[in-house]
Amino acid sequence: MNNFTFYNPVKIIFGKGEIKAVAKEIPADARVMMTYGGGSIKKNKVYDQVMDALKGHKVIEFSGIEPNPRYETLMKAVELARAEQIDFLLAVGGGSVIDGTKLIAAAIPFQGEEPWDILSKKTPVTHAVPFGVVLTLPATGSEMNSGSVITREETKEKFSFGSPFTFPKFSILDPETCYTLPPRQLSNGVVDAFTHVLEQYLTYPVNAPLQDRMAESILITLKEEGPKVLANPTDYDAMANFMWSATMALNGVIRVGVPTDWATHMIGHELTALHGIDHARTLAIVLPSLLRYKKETKREKLLQYGERVWGVTAGSEEERIEATVQATVNFFESLDIRTKLKDYDVDQETIREIVRRFEQRGVKNLGERADIQVSDVEQILTMSL
Ligand code: NZQ
Ligand code: ZN
Repeated sequence: MNNFTFYNPVKIIFGKGEIKAVAKEIPADARVMMTYGGGSIKKNKVYDQVMDALKGHKVIEFSGIEPNPRYETLMKAVELARAEQIDFLLAVGGGSVIDGTKLIAAAIPFQGEEPWDILSKKTPVTHAVPFGVVLTLPATGSEMNSGSVITREETKEKFSFGSPFTFPKFSILDPETCYTLPPRQLSNGVVDAFTHVLEQYLTYPVNAPLQDRMAESILITLKEEGPKVLANPTDYDAMANFMWSATMALNGVIRVGVPTDWATHMIGHELTALHGIDHARTLAIVLPSLLRYKKETKREKLLQYGERVWGVTAGSEEERIEATVQATVNFFESLDIRTKLKDYDVDQETIREIVRRFEQRGVKNLGERADIQVSDVEQILTMSL
């Protein structure tokens, strides 16, 4: 096992009826800005529950944070928060609202030229306004990590940042808030969480059986519970299991002491930036080709994943690896997620554009062995056409 440092200070408050806990988690004298998206929280009454809990607090609202949150929108929130002297943020929504709120939190006290530098130049965040979360969409793990992914509309760039200052102070996970999720978002959530685990597991062995088995248990739980929530989104137990799996998939626990890949995410972000394809769908397009392309260097873990998660034991190693990748594809497709670029009307021209962008940015050495170069990205995407 590799050396590691593990730090995760996020307080999780889990279960039905727990939204009321925001009242005691936010200091009574705080000036709170509640951030949310396009209004799903008004339809499902999450908004009412939060407002009711915060009736003793000073609260202003900032709504309209888009899926794939836009820098331009978030800067309006920063302006409002500064004018109102906000000192606590509360994100109510999915990954986009949470990620957007992380940037708002870091940008309010930002002293440099412009907060975009945090994303484009990796200017370190040195402090941030504290914030909490009420999660309404299990998928990204953003509720229990310090990462954030932001899109700049003007340049069609999608970049990420992370900082020890952008962990939520607390996150409330009430599975009942997810009952209104449409099938598209439920499928996205399952595939995103599943791929998060694979990015941290499907690399090469370092004799870390605990991390391996924890990763496999999340994969198996997602495989079992995902179809249940799609079939019945008001099945509390299934939703609770799915919600906790998605959080555990990207809160840092399974990553400790093992190599991680993340090339699928890096490439996928370009497809969202250029074509607006849902994040999870970009992963479903890239991952199978990446696994096939890197099957030699991922051989041992692919065989282990196939056997332990999909029960693939028959045939030669070559056949087992292909059956394992195909089982993954079949799982995604069973959730109504297509896995080819052509399914999204994306062609060779986009591959050329991604190659051009990566070359311009000097992107290199992706993947757990730092051996995926731009020419490899081109081949992986070509396999996904
Ligand atoms: O905007 P509203 O009206 O709230 O509607 C949202 C949005 O349209 C809707 N929704 C959310 N909760 C709902 C609901 N609809 C009905 N009932 C509910 N309970 O769902 C739509 C999608 O929401 P969004 O927040 O965009 O989805 P998700 O949670 O999948 O987040 C995706 C974003 O997170 C980033 C992605 O790149 C993408 O920008 N990621 C963040 C990560 C992180 N911070 O660690 C890691 C991930 O790999 C990912 O990159
Ligand atoms: Zn993801």
